[in-house]
Amino acid sequence: MYALRVMRTRAVKGTYDVLPERQSSWHLLRDTAERVLGRAGVEELTTPVIEHAELFERSVGASADLVVQKEMYRFEDRGGRTLALRPEFTAGVLRSFVEHGMHTRPTPVKLWSLGPAFRAENVQRGRYRQFHQLNCEYLGLPGPLIDAEAIAALHDLLVELGLPELRVALGSVGDAADRDAYNAYLREALDGVRDELSPTSQERLRLNPMRILDAKDENDRRLIADLDRPLDRLGPDARAHLDGVAEHLSAWEVPFDLAPEIVRGLDYYRRTAFEVHAVGIGAQSALAGGGRYDGLVASLGGPETPAIGWALGVERVFDALAQADAVPDAPAGPDLFLVPMDDDAVREAATLARTLRRELHVRHAYQVRAPGKGLRDADRAGARFAALRGGRERSAGVWTLKNLASGEQTELAADRLVDAARKDGSR
Ligand code: HAM
Repeated sequence: MYALRVMRTRAVKGTYDVLPERQSSWHLLRDTAERVLGRAGVEELTTPVIEHAELFERSVGASADLVVQKEMYRFEDRGGRTLALRPEFTAGVLRSFVEHGMHTRPTPVKLWSLGPAFRAENVQRGRYRQFHQLNCEYLGLPGPLIDAEAIAALHDLLVELGLPELRVALGSVGDAADRDAYNAYLREALDGVRDELSPTSQERLRLNPMRILDAKDENDRRLIADLDRPLDRLGPDARAHLDGVAEHLSAWEVPFDLAPEIVRGLDYYRRTAFEVHAVGIGAQSALAGGGRYDGLVASLGGPETPAIGWALGVERVFDALAQADAVPDAPAGPDLFLVPMDDDAVREAATLARTLRRELHVRHAYQVRAPGKGLRDADRAGARFAALRGGRERSAGVWTLKNLASGEQTELAADRLVDAARKDGSR
Protein backbone atom coordinates (compact mmCIF):
# COMPACT_ATOMS: atom_id res chain seq x y z
CA MET A 1 0.00 0.00 0.00
CA TYR A 2 1.23 3.50 -0.79
CA ALA A 3 2.48 5.09 2.44
CA LEU A 4 1.46 8.70 2.82
CA ARG A 5 4.32 10.74 4.21
CA VAL A 6 2.34 13.50 5.81
CA MET A 7 0.55 12.11 8.86
CA ARG A 8 -2.18 14.72 8.71
CA THR A 9 -3.43 13.29 5.46
CA ARG A 10 -4.37 10.03 7.11
CA ALA A 11 -7.88 9.47 8.40
CA VAL A 12 -8.41 10.31 12.07
CA LYS A 13 -7.93 7.19 14.20
CA GLY A 14 -11.27 5.54 14.78
CA THR A 15 -12.74 6.75 11.49
CA TYR A 16 -12.52 5.02 8.13
CA ASP A 17 -13.28 5.22 4.42
CA VAL A 18 -15.91 3.01 2.81
CA LEU A 19 -14.26 1.86 -0.43
CA PRO A 20 -16.36 1.18 -3.55
CA GLU A 21 -16.15 -2.60 -3.15
CA ARG A 22 -17.60 -2.33 0.37
CA GLN A 23 -20.61 -0.20 -0.59
CA SER A 24 -22.86 -3.22 -1.11
CA SER A 25 -23.19 -3.77 2.65
CA TRP A 26 -24.46 -0.20 2.96
CA HIS A 27 -26.96 -0.69 0.21
CA LEU A 28 -28.14 -3.92 1.82
CA LEU A 29 -28.59 -2.18 5.16
CA ARG A 30 -30.53 0.77 3.76
CA ASP A 31 -32.69 -1.43 1.51
CA THR A 32 -33.49 -3.83 4.34
CA ALA A 33 -34.33 -0.97 6.73
CA GLU A 34 -36.58 0.64 4.15
CA ARG A 35 -38.34 -2.65 3.51
CA VAL A 36 -38.68 -4.12 7.01
CA LEU A 37 -39.32 -0.85 8.87
CA GLY A 38 -41.25 0.75 6.03
CA ARG A 39 -43.73 -2.16 5.99
CA ALA A 40 -44.26 -1.62 9.72
CA GLY A 41 -45.19 2.02 9.15
CA VAL A 42 -41.89 3.44 10.37
CA GLU A 43 -41.06 6.60 8.41
CA GLU A 44 -37.61 7.96 7.68
CA LEU A 45 -36.47 11.15 9.42
CA THR A 46 -33.21 12.92 8.66
CA THR A 47 -31.80 15.18 11.35
CA PRO A 48 -28.58 17.22 11.41
CA VAL A 49 -25.23 15.95 12.61
CA ILE A 50 -24.66 19.15 14.59
CA GLU A 51 -27.02 20.25 17.34
CA HIS A 52 -26.73 22.49 20.37
CA ALA A 53 -24.57 20.63 22.89
CA GLU A 54 -27.12 21.39 25.57
CA LEU A 55 -29.66 19.16 23.84
CA PHE A 56 -27.48 16.11 24.43
CA GLU A 57 -26.30 17.19 27.85
CA ARG A 58 -29.88 17.55 29.01
CA SER A 59 -31.13 14.34 27.49
CA VAL A 60 -28.43 11.67 27.89
CA GLY A 61 -28.05 12.68 31.55
CA ALA A 62 -25.28 14.02 33.74
CA SER A 63 -23.98 10.58 34.66
CA ALA A 64 -23.78 9.11 31.16
CA ASP A 65 -20.26 8.22 29.97
CA LEU A 66 -20.77 10.64 27.12
CA VAL A 67 -20.78 13.47 29.61
CA VAL A 68 -18.71 12.07 32.48
CA GLN A 69 -15.92 10.78 30.28
CA LYS A 70 -16.17 13.72 27.93
CA GLU A 71 -16.91 11.51 24.95
CA MET A 72 -18.88 14.20 23.18
CA TYR A 73 -17.27 16.21 20.39
CA ARG A 74 -18.27 19.59 21.75
CA PHE A 75 -17.04 22.89 20.36
CA GLU A 76 -17.73 26.58 20.16
CA ASP A 77 -18.40 27.97 16.69
CA ARG A 78 -17.58 31.45 15.47
CA GLY A 79 -20.92 32.77 16.65
CA GLY A 80 -20.12 31.72 20.21
CA ARG A 81 -22.66 28.86 20.12
CA THR A 82 -21.73 25.64 21.94
CA LEU A 83 -22.44 22.86 19.49
CA ALA A 84 -21.83 19.12 19.42
CA LEU A 85 -21.53 16.38 16.83
CA ARG A 86 -24.37 14.03 17.69
CA PRO A 87 -23.17 11.14 19.90
CA GLU A 88 -26.52 9.38 19.38
CA PHE A 89 -29.78 10.05 17.53
CA THR A 90 -32.54 10.01 20.14
CA ALA A 91 -32.06 13.58 21.40
CA GLY A 92 -32.06 15.04 17.87
CA VAL A 93 -35.09 12.98 16.83
CA LEU A 94 -37.00 14.24 19.87
CA ARG A 95 -35.92 17.82 19.21
CA SER A 96 -37.32 17.46 15.71
CA PHE A 97 -40.51 15.77 17.03
CA VAL A 98 -41.12 18.70 19.39
CA GLU A 99 -40.03 21.43 16.97
CA HIS A 100 -42.35 20.19 14.22
CA GLY A 101 -45.31 19.43 16.49
CA MET A 102 -45.28 15.77 15.45
CA HIS A 103 -47.36 14.84 18.52
CA THR A 104 -50.40 15.97 16.48
CA ARG A 105 -49.81 13.17 13.96
CA PRO A 106 -51.60 9.84 14.44
CA THR A 107 -50.16 7.88 17.37
CA PRO A 108 -47.80 6.11 17.47
CA VAL A 109 -45.32 8.19 15.50
CA LYS A 110 -42.63 5.81 14.25
CA LEU A 111 -39.38 7.25 12.93
CA TRP A 112 -36.15 5.73 11.68
CA SER A 113 -32.87 7.41 10.79
CA LEU A 114 -29.51 6.29 9.47
CA GLY A 115 -26.25 8.18 9.63
CA PRO A 116 -23.00 8.90 11.40
CA ALA A 117 -22.61 9.50 15.12
CA PHE A 118 -19.50 10.60 16.98
CA ARG A 119 -17.98 9.65 20.30
CA ALA A 120 -14.45 10.46 21.49
CA GLU A 121 -13.89 6.86 22.55
CA ASN A 122 -10.82 4.79 23.25
CA VAL A 123 -10.70 3.18 19.85
CA GLN A 124 -10.77 -0.60 19.63
CA ARG A 125 -12.48 -3.17 17.46
CA GLY A 126 -16.18 -2.30 17.33
CA ARG A 127 -15.62 1.05 19.04
CA TYR A 128 -14.96 3.98 16.74
CA ARG A 129 -14.96 7.77 16.91
CA GLN A 130 -17.13 8.13 13.85
CA PHE A 131 -19.53 5.23 13.59
CA HIS A 132 -23.02 4.82 12.19
CA GLN A 133 -26.33 4.03 13.76
CA LEU A 134 -29.62 2.87 12.36
CA ASN A 135 -31.96 4.43 14.89
CA CYS A 136 -35.66 3.82 15.42
CA GLU A 137 -38.11 5.53 17.76
CA TYR A 138 -41.76 4.73 18.55
CA LEU A 139 -43.47 7.70 20.18
CA GLY A 140 -46.80 8.08 21.92
CA LEU A 141 -47.77 4.74 23.46
CA PRO A 142 -47.17 3.70 27.09
CA GLY A 143 -48.01 -0.04 27.05
CA PRO A 144 -45.85 -3.13 26.60
CA LEU A 145 -47.28 -3.92 23.15
CA ILE A 146 -45.28 -1.21 21.40
CA ASP A 147 -42.13 -2.24 23.28
CA ALA A 148 -42.55 -5.74 21.92
CA GLU A 149 -43.20 -4.36 18.42
CA ALA A 150 -39.99 -2.30 18.56
CA ILE A 151 -37.90 -5.25 19.74
CA ALA A 152 -39.48 -7.62 17.22
CA ALA A 153 -38.77 -5.18 14.37
CA LEU A 154 -35.11 -4.97 15.40
CA HIS A 155 -34.89 -8.75 15.58
CA ASP A 156 -36.57 -9.23 12.18
CA LEU A 157 -34.32 -6.64 10.60
CA LEU A 158 -31.17 -8.38 11.83
CA VAL A 159 -32.43 -11.77 10.70
CA GLU A 160 -33.29 -10.37 7.24
CA LEU A 161 -29.80 -8.93 7.02
CA GLY A 162 -28.48 -12.46 7.38
CA LEU A 163 -27.73 -12.80 11.11
CA PRO A 164 -29.60 -15.79 12.46
CA GLU A 165 -27.57 -16.27 15.66
CA LEU A 166 -28.86 -13.53 17.90
CA ARG A 167 -29.43 -13.13 21.60
CA VAL A 168 -32.12 -10.63 22.54
CA ALA A 169 -31.47 -9.72 26.18
CA LEU A 170 -34.56 -8.18 27.76
CA GLY A 171 -34.42 -6.37 31.07
CA SER A 172 -35.87 -3.43 32.93
CA VAL A 173 -34.30 -0.58 34.82
CA GLY A 174 -37.63 0.07 36.55
CA ASP A 175 -39.55 3.26 37.13
CA ALA A 176 -37.80 6.33 38.52
CA ALA A 177 -38.60 5.26 42.09
CA ASP A 178 -37.28 1.72 41.41
CA ARG A 179 -34.07 3.14 40.02
CA ASP A 180 -33.59 5.38 43.02
CA ALA A 181 -34.29 2.51 45.43
CA TYR A 182 -31.93 0.18 43.57
CA ASN A 183 -29.18 2.79 43.49
CA ALA A 184 -29.61 3.34 47.23
CA TYR A 185 -29.39 -0.43 47.76
CA LEU A 186 -26.12 -0.59 45.77
CA ARG A 187 -24.63 2.37 47.64
CA GLU A 188 -25.32 0.68 50.92
CA ALA A 189 -24.23 -2.78 49.81
CA LEU A 190 -20.93 -1.51 48.39
CA ASP A 191 -20.17 1.06 51.05
CA GLY A 192 -17.81 -1.22 52.96
CA VAL A 193 -15.77 -2.16 49.86
CA ARG A 194 -15.80 1.25 48.16
CA ASP A 195 -11.99 1.56 48.27
CA GLU A 196 -11.50 -1.84 46.63
CA LEU A 197 -13.49 -0.84 43.55
CA SER A 198 -11.74 0.38 40.39
CA PRO A 199 -11.63 4.19 39.96
CA THR A 200 -14.32 3.98 37.23
CA SER A 201 -16.66 2.03 39.47
CA GLN A 202 -15.98 4.38 42.40
CA GLU A 203 -17.06 7.25 40.19
CA ARG A 204 -20.13 5.32 39.05
CA LEU A 205 -21.00 4.54 42.65
CA ARG A 206 -21.07 8.28 43.24
CA LEU A 207 -22.94 9.31 40.07
CA ASN A 208 -25.06 6.38 38.94
CA PRO A 209 -24.42 3.21 41.00
CA MET A 210 -26.43 1.01 38.63
CA ARG A 211 -23.79 1.37 35.95
CA ILE A 212 -21.36 -0.57 38.17
CA LEU A 213 -23.07 -3.68 36.81
CA ASP A 214 -21.38 -2.92 33.45
CA ALA A 215 -17.90 -3.05 35.07
CA LYS A 216 -15.29 -4.93 33.06
CA ASP A 217 -12.75 -5.03 35.91
CA GLU A 218 -12.39 -8.60 37.31
CA ASN A 219 -12.23 -7.50 40.93
CA ASP A 220 -15.28 -5.26 40.53
CA ARG A 221 -17.15 -8.16 39.01
CA ARG A 222 -16.25 -10.34 41.97
CA LEU A 223 -17.43 -7.69 44.43
CA ILE A 224 -20.82 -7.30 42.74
CA ALA A 225 -21.35 -10.97 41.87
CA ASP A 226 -23.81 -11.77 44.67
CA LEU A 227 -25.74 -8.50 44.72
CA ASP A 228 -29.34 -8.24 43.60
CA ARG A 229 -29.89 -7.16 39.99
CA PRO A 230 -32.38 -4.45 38.90
CA LEU A 231 -34.90 -7.14 37.90
CA ASP A 232 -34.88 -8.54 41.44
CA ARG A 233 -36.07 -5.22 42.81
CA LEU A 234 -38.63 -3.97 40.31
CA GLY A 235 -41.77 -2.31 41.60
CA PRO A 236 -45.10 -4.00 40.69
CA ASP A 237 -45.90 -1.66 37.76
CA ALA A 238 -42.52 -2.07 36.07
CA ARG A 239 -42.68 -5.82 36.69
CA ALA A 240 -46.14 -6.08 35.09
CA HIS A 241 -44.88 -4.03 32.13
CA LEU A 242 -41.90 -6.34 31.66
CA ASP A 243 -44.11 -9.43 31.89
CA GLY A 244 -46.35 -7.89 29.23
CA VAL A 245 -43.43 -7.33 26.85
CA ALA A 246 -42.23 -10.89 27.44
CA GLU A 247 -45.70 -12.29 26.78
CA HIS A 248 -46.02 -10.53 23.41
CA LEU A 249 -42.55 -11.56 22.31
CA SER A 250 -43.24 -15.18 23.24
CA ALA A 251 -46.54 -15.12 21.37
CA TRP A 252 -44.77 -13.80 18.28
CA GLU A 253 -41.96 -16.33 18.63
CA VAL A 254 -39.26 -13.71 18.95
CA PRO A 255 -36.57 -15.51 20.95
CA PHE A 256 -35.30 -13.61 23.99
CA ASP A 257 -33.71 -14.15 27.40
CA LEU A 258 -34.63 -12.26 30.50
CA ALA A 259 -31.46 -10.40 31.43
CA PRO A 260 -31.48 -9.29 35.08
CA GLU A 261 -28.17 -7.48 34.68
CA ILE A 262 -29.11 -5.07 31.90
CA VAL A 263 -28.33 -1.44 32.66
CA ARG A 264 -27.76 1.11 29.95
CA GLY A 265 -25.09 3.77 29.46
CA LEU A 266 -27.58 6.61 29.01
CA ASP A 267 -29.61 7.96 31.92
CA TYR A 268 -32.96 8.48 30.20
CA TYR A 269 -34.23 4.91 30.32
CA ARG A 270 -37.28 3.86 32.31
CA ARG A 271 -38.66 0.33 32.53
CA THR A 272 -37.82 -1.70 29.40
CA ALA A 273 -34.12 -1.90 28.53
CA PHE A 274 -32.72 -4.37 26.02
CA GLU A 275 -29.73 -5.30 23.93
CA VAL A 276 -29.21 -7.59 20.99
CA HIS A 277 -25.96 -9.53 20.83
CA ALA A 278 -24.47 -11.60 18.06
CA VAL A 279 -23.69 -15.00 19.50
CA GLY A 280 -19.94 -15.76 19.63
CA ILE A 281 -18.34 -12.58 18.32
CA GLY A 282 -16.49 -11.52 21.48
CA ALA A 283 -16.12 -8.30 23.39
CA GLN A 284 -18.11 -5.74 21.38
CA SER A 285 -20.96 -8.12 20.71
CA ALA A 286 -23.74 -5.60 21.41
CA LEU A 287 -25.15 -5.02 17.94
CA ALA A 288 -27.94 -2.83 19.20
CA GLY A 289 -29.50 -1.45 22.33
CA GLY A 290 -32.44 0.58 23.44
CA GLY A 291 -35.28 1.00 25.82
CA ARG A 292 -38.22 3.04 27.03
CA TYR A 293 -37.69 6.68 27.89
CA ASP A 294 -40.99 8.08 29.16
CA GLY A 295 -40.51 11.63 30.40
CA LEU A 296 -37.70 12.59 28.04
CA VAL A 297 -39.87 14.35 25.44
CA ALA A 298 -41.46 16.46 28.19
CA SER A 299 -38.07 17.29 29.66
CA LEU A 300 -37.10 18.68 26.24
CA GLY A 301 -40.10 21.00 26.24
CA GLY A 302 -42.62 18.79 24.43
CA PRO A 303 -45.89 17.32 25.65
CA GLU A 304 -45.76 14.29 27.95
CA THR A 305 -45.05 11.50 25.43
CA PRO A 306 -44.24 7.93 26.38
CA ALA A 307 -41.76 6.38 23.96
CA ILE A 308 -39.38 3.54 23.23
CA GLY A 309 -36.59 3.09 20.73
CA TRP A 310 -33.34 1.45 19.77
CA ALA A 311 -30.20 2.02 17.79
CA LEU A 312 -28.16 -0.52 15.91
CA GLY A 313 -24.38 -0.13 15.48
CA VAL A 314 -23.85 -0.45 11.73
CA GLU A 315 -20.13 -1.31 11.87
CA ARG A 316 -20.78 -4.02 14.44
CA VAL A 317 -23.51 -5.49 12.29
CA PHE A 318 -21.15 -5.52 9.28
CA ASP A 319 -18.52 -7.23 11.41
CA ALA A 320 -21.02 -9.85 12.50
CA LEU A 321 -22.10 -10.36 8.86
CA ALA A 322 -18.45 -10.95 7.92
CA GLN A 323 -18.07 -13.50 10.71
CA ALA A 324 -21.25 -15.25 9.62
CA ASP A 325 -19.96 -15.31 6.03
CA ALA A 326 -22.99 -13.30 5.00
CA VAL A 327 -21.36 -10.23 3.43
CA PRO A 328 -23.29 -9.26 0.29
CA ASP A 329 -21.50 -9.51 -3.04
CA ALA A 330 -19.55 -6.51 -4.31
CA PRO A 331 -21.45 -4.43 -6.89
CA ALA A 332 -21.74 -6.16 -10.26
CA GLY A 333 -19.21 -5.29 -12.96
CA PRO A 334 -20.17 -3.71 -16.30
CA ASP A 335 -22.45 -5.42 -18.79
CA LEU A 336 -20.15 -4.42 -21.59
CA PHE A 337 -16.54 -3.27 -21.92
CA LEU A 338 -15.57 -1.59 -25.20
CA VAL A 339 -12.04 -2.10 -26.45
CA PRO A 340 -10.99 0.33 -29.21
CA MET A 341 -8.03 -0.86 -31.25
CA ASP A 342 -7.37 2.30 -33.28
CA ASP A 343 -7.89 6.05 -32.89
CA ASP A 344 -11.23 6.12 -34.73
CA ALA A 345 -12.54 3.39 -32.47
CA VAL A 346 -11.41 5.29 -29.35
CA ARG A 347 -13.70 8.15 -30.36
CA GLU A 348 -16.49 5.80 -31.37
CA ALA A 349 -16.25 3.85 -28.09
CA ALA A 350 -16.77 7.01 -26.06
CA THR A 351 -19.76 8.11 -28.17
CA LEU A 352 -21.26 4.63 -28.22
CA ALA A 353 -20.83 4.28 -24.44
CA ARG A 354 -22.80 7.48 -23.96
CA THR A 355 -25.73 6.03 -25.91
CA LEU A 356 -25.56 2.50 -24.51
CA ARG A 357 -25.44 3.81 -20.92
CA ARG A 358 -29.12 4.69 -21.21
CA GLU A 359 -29.69 0.98 -20.77
CA LEU A 360 -26.49 -0.79 -19.80
CA HIS A 361 -23.54 -0.42 -17.48
CA VAL A 362 -20.79 0.28 -20.00
CA ARG A 363 -17.10 1.01 -19.60
CA HIS A 364 -14.42 1.45 -22.20
CA ALA A 365 -10.68 1.82 -22.59
CA TYR A 366 -9.64 5.43 -23.13
CA GLN A 367 -6.82 4.68 -25.48
CA VAL A 368 -5.93 2.24 -28.23
CA ARG A 369 -5.59 -1.26 -26.83
CA ALA A 370 -4.15 -4.47 -28.21
CA PRO A 371 -6.85 -7.18 -28.11
CA GLY A 372 -5.16 -9.27 -25.38
CA LYS A 373 -4.62 -6.30 -23.10
CA GLY A 374 -8.15 -5.00 -23.78
CA LEU A 375 -9.71 -8.33 -22.88
CA ARG A 376 -7.67 -8.43 -19.67
CA ASP A 377 -8.98 -4.93 -18.78
CA ALA A 378 -12.54 -6.13 -19.42
CA ASP A 379 -11.99 -9.20 -17.29
CA ARG A 380 -10.50 -7.19 -14.43
CA ALA A 381 -13.47 -4.83 -14.48
CA GLY A 382 -15.72 -7.89 -14.06
CA ALA A 383 -17.50 -7.30 -17.39
CA ARG A 384 -19.86 -9.90 -18.86
CA PHE A 385 -19.12 -8.91 -22.45
CA ALA A 386 -16.24 -7.24 -24.25
CA ALA A 387 -16.67 -5.61 -27.67
CA LEU A 388 -13.57 -4.94 -29.79
CA ARG A 389 -13.21 -2.78 -32.86
CA GLY A 390 -10.51 -1.38 -35.13
CA GLY A 391 -6.89 -2.17 -35.96
CA ARG A 392 -6.27 -5.06 -38.28
CA GLU A 393 -9.69 -6.56 -37.64
CA ARG A 394 -11.34 -3.34 -38.72
CA SER A 395 -14.44 -3.58 -40.84
CA ALA A 396 -16.63 -0.52 -40.97
CA GLY A 397 -19.24 -0.26 -38.18
CA VAL A 398 -18.69 -3.81 -36.94
CA TRP A 399 -17.78 -4.80 -33.39
CA THR A 400 -16.58 -8.20 -32.26
CA LEU A 401 -18.66 -9.08 -29.22
CA LYS A 402 -17.16 -11.65 -26.86
CA ASN A 403 -19.02 -13.35 -24.02
CA LEU A 404 -16.29 -13.42 -21.38
CA ALA A 405 -17.74 -16.42 -19.55
CA SER A 406 -18.29 -18.74 -22.52
CA GLY A 407 -15.72 -17.31 -24.93
CA GLU A 408 -18.41 -17.24 -27.66
CA GLN A 409 -17.80 -14.52 -30.26
CA THR A 410 -20.03 -12.73 -32.79
CA GLU A 411 -19.67 -9.83 -35.23
CA LEU A 412 -22.29 -7.15 -34.75
CA ALA A 413 -23.21 -3.66 -35.89
CA ALA A 414 -23.04 -1.05 -33.12
CA ASP A 415 -26.83 -0.70 -32.92
CA ARG A 416 -27.17 -4.41 -32.10
CA LEU A 417 -24.83 -4.31 -29.11
CA VAL A 418 -27.49 -3.42 -26.52
CA ASP A 419 -29.73 -6.34 -27.45
CA ALA A 420 -26.85 -8.78 -27.60
CA ALA A 421 -25.37 -7.72 -24.25
CA ARG A 422 -28.79 -7.78 -22.62
CA LYS A 423 -29.67 -11.16 -24.01
CA ASP A 424 -27.86 -13.14 -21.27
CA GLY A 425 -30.03 -11.49 -18.66
CA SER A 426 -29.02 -7.92 -18.00
CA ARG A 427 -28.61 -6.99 -14.34
P1 HAM B 1 -26.19 2.93 22.66
O1 HAM B 1 -26.29 1.60 23.37
O2 HAM B 1 -25.30 3.94 23.25
O3 HAM B 1 -27.67 3.46 22.54
O4 HAM B 1 -25.74 2.67 21.16
C1 HAM B 1 -26.45 1.76 20.34
C2 HAM B 1 -25.48 0.91 19.53
O5 HAM B 1 -24.57 1.74 18.81
C3 HAM B 1 -24.57 0.00 20.37
O6 HAM B 1 -25.23 -1.21 20.70
C4 HAM B 1 -23.41 -0.23 19.42
O7 HAM B 1 -23.72 -1.27 18.51
C5 HAM B 1 -23.33 1.07 18.66
N1 HAM B 1 -22.23 1.93 19.17
C6 HAM B 1 -22.26 2.75 20.24
N2 HAM B 1 -21.07 3.39 20.37
C7 HAM B 1 -20.27 2.95 19.38
C8 HAM B 1 -18.92 3.24 18.94
N3 HAM B 1 -18.16 4.11 19.58
N4 HAM B 1 -18.46 2.59 17.86
C9 HAM B 1 -19.23 1.71 17.19
N5 HAM B 1 -20.49 1.40 17.53
C10 HAM B 1 -21.01 2.01 18.60
C11 HAM B 1 -28.02 4.67 21.96
O8 HAM B 1 -27.28 5.33 21.30
C12 HAM B 1 -29.47 5.04 22.17
N6 HAM B 1 -29.70 6.37 21.58
C13 HAM B 1 -30.37 4.00 21.55
C14 HAM B 1 -31.82 4.35 21.72
C15 HAM B 1 -32.65 4.84 20.76
N7 HAM B 1 -32.53 4.27 22.84
C16 HAM B 1 -33.75 4.69 22.62
N8 HAM B 1 -33.84 5.06 21.38
